[in-house]
Amino acid sequence: MVSTPKLIKASYFAGKDFFRSPLLTSGPLPAPAAVMVPIRSLGPGHAERIARHLLSLSAADRYLRFGYAANDDQIQRYVDSLNFERDDIFGVYNRRLELIAVAHLAFAVDPDFTSCAEFGVSVLAKVRGRGYGARLFDRAVMHARNEGVQMMFIHALSQNTVMLNIARKAGASIEREGSESEAYLRLPPADLDSRMTEMIEERVAQTDYRLKVQAYQFWDFLRMMQEVRRGVREARDRMPM
Ligand SMILES: CC(C)(COP(=O)(O)OP(=O)(O)OC[C@H]1O[C@@H](n2cnc3c(N)ncnc32)[C@H](O)[C@@H]1OP(=O)(O)O)[C@@H](O)C(=O)NCCC(=O)NCCS
Repeated sequence: MVSTPKLIKASYFAGKDFFRSPLLTSGPLPAPAAVMVPIRSLGPGHAERIARHLLSLSAADRYLRFGYAANDDQIQRYVDSLNFERDDIFGVYNRRLELIAVAHLAFAVDPDFTSCAEFGVSVLAKVRGRGYGARLFDRAVMHARNEGVQMMFIHALSQNTVMLNIARKAGASIEREGSESEAYLRLPPADLDSRMTEMIEERVAQTDYRLKVQAYQFWDFLRMMQEVRRGVREARDRMPM
């Protein structure tokens, strides 16, 4: 069964930070818990936020992510063409419900290569170096295994040492061809552990997201109440004595 004390503990850690007011902390996000990053799968309802995330990448990052200097129209077309049925998109949300990291696991469409998938990822510059890229990679590997994928590919520019390091550390072989590199990782078959872990992680991430939505709405409500109170106070102060 999935509902183990472990799941409750993980949900607790994933949720405990969310009711802290985002109004009080305008600085950079605190470092994520070393235990786990709540990574959730994203459906078509998240397309607008995925677009917002990608459009906020700098020109250099777009180049690294897509292998060419994608302009806004090309990014929008990429998002519009995402196939949420066939592929898997994963994301990490912060407390402001901003999508800070997105990964795309694209399954091969060619019937001769059904056991292959390609991985692409982007993390917002302000939260890099906190392990999100590596965690998304791990999550994609686990999901790919559970889907029967035997080989995962990462296409990266040779200058993209951070991405290539993530792949190398996971055991990928890297072939460099001039300015471009192709990394490929052989995946072991799924087992009970990979299936259970993915199921638990997804449930924790869904809980995490729901809590973030509630916390966000709650702070919005408080903000509105404060405005109403301020309005009443100002009106009262303006009244002749
Ligand atoms: C590549 C990218 C996704 C990495 O995301 P990230 O969240 O910063 O990566 P992580 O924090 O998981 O770091 C992964 C490893 O790289 C190291 N690293 C991170 N930033 C680094 C930097 N600027 N220089 C050197 N090493 C760095 C980390 O220390 C970590 O190594 P470790 O596991 O030994 O500690 C992010 O830089 C990005 O979005 N780049 C633009 C888009 C892109 O290049 N996409 C990949 C093409 S598919």
